[in-house]
Amino acid sequence: MIISVNIDNLSLINEIQTTFNVLYKQKNELKKEFEMNPYTKIYIYIENDNILGILHINDIYDRYEINNIYVLEEYRNKGIASKLLEYVIELGKKNNILNITLEVRKNNVNAIKLYNKYNFKEKAIRKGYYNGIDGILMEKEMM
Ligand SMILES: CC(C)(COP(=O)(O)OP(=O)(O)OC[C@H]1O[C@@H](n2cnc3c(N)ncnc32)[C@H](O)[C@@H]1OP(=O)(O)O)[C@@H](O)C(=O)NCCC(=O)NCCS
Repeated sequence: MIISVNIDNLSLINEIQTTFNVLYKQKNELKKEFEMNPYTKIYIYIENDNILGILHINDIYDRYEINNIYVLEEYRNKGIASKLLEYVIELGKKNNILNITLEVRKNNVNAIKLYNKYNFKEKAIRKGYYNGIDGILMEKEMM
């Protein structure tokens, strides 16, 4: 099951913060992100009451930016990230968005395979963006 996280659901936000503390390292980081960034949208994948994956986007008028997509290590390669991405792509279609963009480390082969599967295309290289490793800006056109 995929659900959209509401800013008022503080206990869920805390649970997400704890589950994905590799992404949200500062205390209350996710709560602050919701409070300070009106474009923040979080979708989580839940199975048997456990949160297994997260997709964090900025929903900016007519486009989406993917901030993070993360699946707990022991649940990877079972299609969870694909389900999260498909969910957001469908949402984007309904909302007539123009494109979805993201940045990925050049050496993150699994993530790049995932994005290629959904027709994201390489648009630009950010030289040395991640501590000397190039970043690739990818875009999926929706129109
Ligand atoms: C990238 C990540 C989100 C993929 O999550 P996932 O749930 O394992 O992905 P899926 O099972 O939906 O797989 C999607 C596609 O990715 C590729 N893929 C995923 N894991 C793979 C692996 N271990 N080996 C080869 N390909 C892999 C495959 O192409 C797969 O499609 P297919 O199953 O139809 O062949 C996950 O590896 C992760 O959380 N990584 C750490 C965080 C990260 O790097 N996020 C991306 C930041 S830009």
